[in-house]
Amino acid sequence: MAFNFDQWIDRHHSDSLKWRKYGNRDILPLWVADTDFRSPPAVIEALQQRVEHGVFGYGAEPNALIDVVIERMATRYNWRIEAEWLVLLPGVVAGLNLCVRAFTSPGEGTVAPTPIYPPFRLAAKWADRSQINLQMRLENARWTMDLAAAEMQLTGNEKLLMLCNPQNPGGTVYRRDELAAQLRFAQQHDLIVCSDDIHCDLILEPGLQHIPFATLDDDAEQRSITLISPSKTFNIAGLGASLAIIPNKALRQRFNDTRRGIVPSVDILAITAATAAWRDGQPGWRRSWIIYAVIATGCARR
Ligand SMILES: Cc1ncc(COP(=O)(O)O)c(C=O)c1O
Repeated sequence: MAFNFDQWIDRHHSDSLKWRKYGNRDILPLWVADTDFRSPPAVIEALQQRVEHGVFGYGAEPNALIDVVIERMATRYNWRIEAEWLVLLPGVVAGLNLCVRAFTSPGEGTVAPTPIYPPFRLAAKWADRSQINLQMRLENARWTMDLAAAEMQLTGNEKLLMLCNPQNPGGTVYRRDELAAQLRFAQQHDLIVCSDDIHCDLILEPGLQHIPFATLDDDAEQRSITLISPSKTFNIAGLGASLAIIPNKALRQRFNDTRRGIVPSVDILAITAATAAWRDGQPGWRRSWIIYAVIATGCARR
């Protein structure tokens, strides 16, 4: 279907975080992954229908969304997941913070690449946990992680490796051999792995494939938490609906124990939008997202 990317929508008076930052100054606020395009028609129609229903009580387990996610993971990423592995969250950043608090204790630390999307660092800081930074290096116009150098930095107190795939910033889509090296690193140092895959649907280069860390093998699956969300791909970040995929029962239990009573359940309109986006979001519309992806994460690189 055709989508009008030339339509200018003024967001100045919509309580937009992005547009409020510089007020009325003549600045294009390209500081956050939040575009000014309308969401796909399927999302807008689903929201309209849900609003028309007119009753907005507490939501139950969103079966349609769960089915869509299971199907999507299988068809796009060849990953067969089970409904009980899924934990709904109002945001991926909440998931990063929960991982730090659930899988490290005071005095223990985290490991994350640098540079990285700032909430990775802040999640450790806010929980009063240390973080070892794995330096990203520019090699052949592509940012890669220097795991050998990282070996020297570890203290033995680290419990959590925090990955971002595709990496923000830099746009690196990790190859299978790189993910395998990250898995070996995690195994050698007995690390749980949290992988933020929020940008995984925005791969630009033909032939380039996102590989979820958890799909490497059984061990990777059992030590991993994968965070996903339709918010970037379909520009619905203000309707926070994200998921943690946690195959290991004990890890899921710890994650849920940390979350319970503190992190609210996901808004029913956010669930409606996420379900429609992932089920009915038009491929043509998604392809046109190149402009956004370049701004948000830099060009994805082989
Ligand atoms: C890597 C990464 N993770 C998470 C987020 C934000 O996720 P959420 O809005 O679901 O908390 C962003 C936003 O730009 C991001 O780039």
